[in-house]
Amino acid sequence: MSKRTIVTMPGDGIGKIVLAEALRVLEAAGFQADYVHADIGWEFWCNEGNPLPQRTLDLLEKHKIGLFGAITSKPKAEAARELAPKLQDKGYVYYSPIVGLRQHFNLDICMRPCKTFKGNPLNFIRRGKNNEIEEPEVDVVIFRQNTEGLYAGVEWTNPPDNVYQALASHPKFKKFADTPKEELAVSTRILTKKATQRIVRAAFEHAKKFGYKSVTVCEKPNVIRETSGMMLAIGREIAKEYEGIELWNTNIDAQMMWLTKNPEDYSVIVSSNMFGDIVSDGFAGLVGGLGFACSANIGEEVAIFEPTHGSAPKYETYDPPIVNPIAMILSACLMLDHIGETEKAQKIRAAIAKVVKEGKVRTYDMMKLKGSPEALQQGAASTTEITDEIISKIKS
Ligand code: NAI
Ligand code: MG
Repeated sequence: MSKRTIVTMPGDGIGKIVLAEALRVLEAAGFQADYVHADIGWEFWCNEGNPLPQRTLDLLEKHKIGLFGAITSKPKAEAARELAPKLQDKGYVYYSPIVGLRQHFNLDICMRPCKTFKGNPLNFIRRGKNNEIEEPEVDVVIFRQNTEGLYAGVEWTNPPDNVYQALASHPKFKKFADTPKEELAVSTRILTKKATQRIVRAAFEHAKKFGYKSVTVCEKPNVIRETSGMMLAIGREIAKEYEGIELWNTNIDAQMMWLTKNPEDYSVIVSSNMFGDIVSDGFAGLVGGLGFACSANIGEEVAIFEPTHGSAPKYETYDPPIVNPIAMILSACLMLDHIGETEKAQKIRAAIAKVVKEGKVRTYDMMKLKGSPEALQQGAASTTEITDEIISKIKS
């Protein structure tokens, strides 16, 4: 088989550190690929007025598969101030390049697995009936609609007249009618049937492929009747095609409460954009947090794999680096799954499981230490050391 070409987008801060480590692990697992570097992030915003240059989009269009580290985002005004002098006041407006990638390639399916690694000191524990300590095993995969809903960006402050009139035509707008238009901020939550069907179907397909017993639609249909209501109705429709997989229905608020009560009962969860973001961070917190949270953004053609964490700029300059590369490595495993290299992905996951269980080599976050260079003197492993340990388990 000819070698694959993977587009690597390290981005900013620790994105550069963890992506390089993931490539070492992929190689150790026997995955052969050509990697092409693509520019993304703060540097390109400052120097070109565009954090997501067209040449990066072209590379992804051509090669279809991307590995992404993390980027730095800053509020609008701060971003404008950091633009190179020659670009100042030319009308450039900062936007998040990762959100840009999701929109440009319609990466509408976001998958975020949250699975307990035994022996991880960051695992959630609770007390059982007889006051004993229990450590529930979480194995949840969140399917988050990635392109619509509250994050689609259809929003206004001081909405234009035509928008205002449309809003005013709704009977429930009465309570806002006395507020001056300039004092109104509106963010819309638009869901389409097509994208909702795609995310719900992706969730059921995943449950079927990997033998999960239920798919939970996690929304709020009792209050947000139109959009959450549509997702639940589509869930009920699609569930009929998947015999043996139960459809569950939870409200996002209650789900967050149950997170610590019975997280082991959930399997596949499907949500709209914002609720999916919330519930996936919630579950990630039970299984190790940002150092372990991986994700896939999958469209019909292009797919991009990234850790959930950001660029943690404070840690960028530590030499040796101390951040946990596991979230990035697990994201690379999702890439392997996606392109049919499941065996190699499983080999890497098994190696991570061994390292975590043995507990001899742990990054600062796993030791609950403060993230500082001193953590290494206190026994924490560096980024490179834990990667080396994972690689040695792959090879043993
Ligand atoms: P962050 O995820 O970069 O860091 C938050 C904290 O989590 C860090 O200070 C660190 O203590 C910990 N952490 C993160 N990754 C870790 C790792 N691999 N190992 C160990 N500890 C880790 O989020 P923050 O500080 O809110 O944002 C920093 C920058 O990243 C901002 O500019 C933000 O806009 C951007 N960001 C980018 C994202 C992306 O590229 N997808 C996602 C989230 C934030
Ligand atoms: Mg998030």
